[in-house]
Amino acid sequence: MITPSDALRLLEEAGCAANVIRHCQVVSGIAVEIAAAYREAGNDVDLEIVEIGALLHDIGRSRTHGIRHALEGVSIAEELGLDSRIVMIIKNHIGAGITRQEALVLGIPEDDYLPVTLEEKIVCHADNLVMGEERVNISRCIRRMQDRGMGQEAITRVRDLADEIGII
Ligand SMILES: [Fe+2]
Repeated sequence: MITPSDALRLLEEAGCAANVIRHCQVVSGIAVEIAAAYREAGNDVDLEIVEIGALLHDIGRSRTHGIRHALEGVSIAEELGLDSRIVMIIKNHIGAGITRQEALVLGIPEDDYLPVTLEEKIVCHADNLVMGEERVNISRCIRRMQDRGMGQEAITRVRDLADEIGII
């Protein structure tokens, strides 16, 4: 597995802006904190995958800030030959994931983009707790989704993920 400094170098080399890189660092810090609590509670969770996946989750923002940044991130990560668990964290990190039906409406390739593993869910949730570089609570995240006119189903999924992951 690559190191955190390798991951930061990859973000820079991909062309991510400094604020995006700082965002990824904040998300990674929170994700590791959550993962460590899961580990402490006796759960099987890979802290390294969580840390590196969170650092790289927005690597696609080097190409676009739109919804497709997850897909762009997947292509970059695949070109770099990164571990498939990292690729899946990047693919499934938006909101609390995107369903096949939502993908159709959003005009992205018809596929299921829902986080499946504990590592994917932790990064998703940690990302929802960060606006820019600021840590916020889940209600603030949900208000922003409402302001942006996001669908109720997607919002409910973010709340459910917080209820599921945020308990530790
Ligand atoms: Fe993102």
